[in-house]
Amino acid sequence: MKIPKAWRLGISEMQIMPVLRHRPPSRRPLWIIVLVSLVCVSLIGAYVYPLRHYATCYFFDSSICSPFTQSLPPAPAKVLTDEEIAAYVVIRDILETPSLQSKNPKIAFMFLTPGSLPFEKLWEKFFLGHEERFSIYVHASKEKPEHESPLFLNRDIHSDEVVWGKISMVDAEKRLLANALEDTDNQHFVLLSDSCIPLHDFDYVYNYLMDTKVSFIDCFEDPGPHGTGRYSDGMSPEVEKKDFRKGAQWFSMKRQHALLVLADSLYYNKFKQFCKPGMHGRNCYADEHYLPTLFHMVDPNGIANWSVTHVDWSEGKWHPKAYKAQDVTFELLNNITSIDESIHVTSEGKKEVQQRPCLWNGVKRPCYLFARKFNPEALDNLMQHFSNYTTI
Ligand SMILES: *[C@@H]1O[C@H](CO)[C@@H](O)[C@H](O)[C@H]1NC(C)=O
Ligand SMILES: *[C@@H]1O[C@H](CO)[C@@H](O)[C@H](O)[C@H]1NC(C)=O
Ligand SMILES: *[C@@H]1O[C@H](CO)[C@@H](O)[C@H](O)[C@H]1NC(C)=O
Repeated sequence: MKIPKAWRLGISEMQIMPVLRHRPPSRRPLWIIVLVSLVCVSLIGAYVYPLRHYATCYFFDSSICSPFTQSLPPAPAKVLTDEEIAAYVVIRDILETPSLQSKNPKIAFMFLTPGSLPFEKLWEKFFLGHEERFSIYVHASKEKPEHESPLFLNRDIHSDEVVWGKISMVDAEKRLLANALEDTDNQHFVLLSDSCIPLHDFDYVYNYLMDTKVSFIDCFEDPGPHGTGRYSDGMSPEVEKKDFRKGAQWFSMKRQHALLVLADSLYYNKFKQFCKPGMHGRNCYADEHYLPTLFHMVDPNGIANWSVTHVDWSEGKWHPKAYKAQDVTFELLNNITSIDESIHVTSEGKKEVQQRPCLWNGVKRPCYLFARKFNPEALDNLMQHFSNYTTI
């Protein structure tokens, strides 16, 4: 890249300086020598400063480019392909350009569902009275939904088939993002499923998502078979094994990041080609790895590393716990809304538990705004408890 050239330029310019300093005394007046020295000092300064700045500004990591971290050692220069350079400049400029401002900022609620949404009536309770601050999008991949709430009428977008674990899942997410980005008032984008419910009232959710600069994308390093074990060498050199990450699919992201996801084709295509079920006898699921890995590489400090949608994996099965009607009690919902530490469990033999406080703008707060998976027949109990549990 250009960085090593800047190095060479800096060094050759600096080598001129000692020559000037050790010249034999001349008859020129002292002030000329002083002036020349001052110019030299500022030249050295001008070269040395950007040199340190850019040398540590390694690949995408905008955090490392921060003026507060300039003492980091220079990273080894990596030779980038044409596609990587193109991806680098596009992603860098998206991250450095403030997104479109809106006088009426909204949150886009994007529902990814096979068909009808069993909790429309619950969501209606959540949305009513806040009409100016949200928009709804529904991607129904199997059958045309029947809507029970007028808020969901005419909110279906063009959809396509979605196969669990395949890239078509990511394609559906991108379709939802593209439709939601059309409305420039949408500033934050939440992906939800048909089995998701809200855990707080609308104002709480709105302020939680809008009053922070990060996207809530789940991301952790799992060295085990269900994490890095799914990495395929075909992804290198663009995606290295050390950068491969895992996380739940249910994200919420700011506008800039939504744009970035649509702008990326290089990394998307790597996952499309090399992360799929049955790849070299292993199963890789693009929806669990693409976004965590992408954001870990390009903007690690721009994501919270946990998802605001709670799910209970503690039963250790292939699918998370699904709550039945009788499970839905005030105590259960109170328990979920009180959690303020995120938990990740690795999949290798020792099953390491990574537990971190949920820091919202630096303050420890409850982690979750939504929860899944709830069975459709839990609706009545949820409706009954809604005003109580959302005001905790
Ligand atoms: C998320 O994790 C990465 C390490 O993968 C870390 O650099 C970053 O600071 C974390 N984000 C936040 C908001 O703490
Ligand atoms: C709620 O949390 C308490 C304390 O951890 C636990 O004993 C209880 O079983 C939980 N209740 C439900 C319904 O999850
Ligand atoms: C909701 O809370 C109120 C006051 O705390 C209580 O009287 C009422 O029984 C609760 N309702 C349910 C359904 O738990």
